[in-house]
Amino acid sequence: MKIATKTTLTTLLAAMTLMTGASAAFAQEKKTLKEALNGKFLIGTAVYGRQTSGKDKAAVRLLREQFNAIVAENCMKSQVIHPEENRYDFTEADEFVEFGEKNNMTVTGHTLIWHSQLSPWFCVDDEGKNVSPEVLKKRMKDHITTVVKRYKGRIKGWDVVNEAIEDNGDYRKSKFYEILGEEYIPLAFQYAHEADPDAELYYNDYSMANPGRRAAVVKLVKDLKKRGIRIDAVGMQGHIGMDYPRVSEFEKSMLAFAQAGVKVMITELDLTVLPSPNPHVGAEVSASYEYKKEMNPYPDGLPEEVSKAWTKRMNDFFRLFLKHQDIIARVTLWGVTDSDSWRNNWPMPGRTDYPLLFDRNYQPKPIVDLIVKEAGKK
Ligand code: XIL
Repeated sequence: MKIATKTTLTTLLAAMTLMTGASAAFAQEKKTLKEALNGKFLIGTAVYGRQTSGKDKAAVRLLREQFNAIVAENCMKSQVIHPEENRYDFTEADEFVEFGEKNNMTVTGHTLIWHSQLSPWFCVDDEGKNVSPEVLKKRMKDHITTVVKRYKGRIKGWDVVNEAIEDNGDYRKSKFYEILGEEYIPLAFQYAHEADPDAELYYNDYSMANPGRRAAVVKLVKDLKKRGIRIDAVGMQGHIGMDYPRVSEFEKSMLAFAQAGVKVMITELDLTVLPSPNPHVGAEVSASYEYKKEMNPYPDGLPEEVSKAWTKRMNDFFRLFLKHQDIIARVTLWGVTDSDSWRNNWPMPGRTDYPLLFDRNYQPKPIVDLIVKEAGKK
């Protein structure tokens, strides 16, 4: 009887120990992304009107629970915020910044100078001819000063210039470049710094694992620094696919930028599972291919093996980010749930993609627990 009691007690104790262990593990697994990554790097996402207005309540719940940083997906691009030379429209941008403040999130402005989603008036005169260098400088200065000053002290940092370099390391032949040459980049940084001396300033681009871009961006950063112009970080857009870029090449670029004296930000992260109509498309927003059914293989859900491969690859990238957490300031997803993603419509409209951390029912994918676990180890 005595023995039996002892055994029961031992079993009970063992069971209790197990349970405590299990509930500790459970509690750890139930950490949210921002809790698990706290002290390592910020975890952010792009947001848009349905979220910042509060209409998409389920997304707002996820945003508050999981993320501590937001970036404007579209509302701060010149086309939206500055539609005519003498007219700004801050409606959505104001709401975006207030949303971030209300929820204690780090707010990033995207983007001041970009050739895409550029207001049609910005670089040309009434006849559509390029304006003179002096006029363009003045327009850039007015635009940057007005936008940056409006949110002074409320926006932590700005993507000052977006996508100015090409794959081979040449400057992109944008209107800004055509009119001002490469000098438009330091000018933009200088204007932004004058408008808010405390704001961080970033250069942001895609296909950054590409050696040509890597070298050119390193040179750009060094040149700016040599001239005493503020630049705090390089944003590496993470519009990645299942077989590009190589993790090792991405890592080389992260290290090269850090070596040049800036922080690294993984911006615009999304991992597509869909076939690409052009492997060299990068994240060129202007690319557009006609819809083809065979290019949309998973309209009704992702087969288990594809989903597993996706999880593994996303995990490989997060492991890389955690490995280099000392140089990474922020990792930002380009959207909250799969249904929000621009990938469903770019570079081919009307497809069904699965590139983000939360599914179409606002549920975390298995990757979320994996990231939380990995973060616990490092
Ligand atoms: C995308 C938005 O997600 C889309 O909604 C919009 O139609 C086009 O732009 N690089 C960038 C982002 O810097 O601003 C782009 O965002 C994606 C590529």
